[in-house]
Amino acid sequence: MNVTFKKLHPHIGAEVSPLDLRQIHDRETLDALVGGMDEHGVLVFRDQPFTDAEQLAFAERFGGPLHKKPGIAALAKNRFDNDAIADIGNINEDGGIRAADDRKRAYSLANRLWHTDASFQDPPGRYSTLSARVIPPVGADTEFADMQAAYDDLDAAMKKQIEGLHVHHSIAYSRQLLGFDFSPAELEKLKGAVHPLVHVNPRTGRRSLYLAAHATRVIEMALPEGRLLLRDLTEHATQRQYVYRHAWKDRDLVIWDNQASMHRSTPFEDARYPRELRRITTIDVEVPAYA
Ligand code: OGA
Ligand code: MN
Repeated sequence: MNVTFKKLHPHIGAEVSPLDLRQIHDRETLDALVGGMDEHGVLVFRDQPFTDAEQLAFAERFGGPLHKKPGIAALAKNRFDNDAIADIGNINEDGGIRAADDRKRAYSLANRLWHTDASFQDPPGRYSTLSARVIPPVGADTEFADMQAAYDDLDAAMKKQIEGLHVHHSIAYSRQLLGFDFSPAELEKLKGAVHPLVHVNPRTGRRSLYLAAHATRVIEMALPEGRLLLRDLTEHATQRQYVYRHAWKDRDLVIWDNQASMHRSTPFEDARYPRELRRITTIDVEVPAYA
């Protein structure tokens, strides 16, 4: 099947020509979509009426094994009793809107910090597929920053300084930044993982900054210097020119490459309007599943 990509931003993001992802099973089309991910970092598909089962099957066809250890599982089971499905939005176990003091709401607020999904796992998250089921009439957009363009624009001295460095990522850290309290038993489950600061895409050879609000420290540096470096790089990489802002419509499916982008949610009146999405993320395994 012939697919085309229409750029949504000079650096990052493209809308894919109309197709029904539930019907896409052939390797050739799936490979063309993976190629589109390599080029654009974020792909937008309109009108994808997925059920959870269909989205699970598609994510696996597209990107291989699924990420099943979300940080929030350390707190409680999710509504779907399936840790591969991340419950994104503000709907509680009874189908109502989460109260202001709901602990899961407090935990999810950290999605407003620039981050990547599942960088606190080893292997880390690769592709996230986010399916819009109910979108409020008031925005609640998601922003994506291009970590490849941001890397390319660093000067030669900075590229040399950061080559070979490693970063520890912990999801507890990004929550603690906002004052969220974990019990000792929860913290025990959220120890995090270490990954290179510079990621190289094995197919294109393009380098990117692998950053997130989960990044606690640079392994090879003293704590303050490492944290300052992470902060400087994040400030650089999230300047407006690197950011595509996605305005959701019901039934959108957006896929992003967590190794080539960071993202964050934006504030809206979440005590008033329901917002409901499902995210299914694949993990970065050595042999690409589509090879
Ligand atoms: C996610 C996420 C942002 C949003 O699904 O991983 O960070 O706007 N979502 O809901
Ligand atoms: Mn996220």
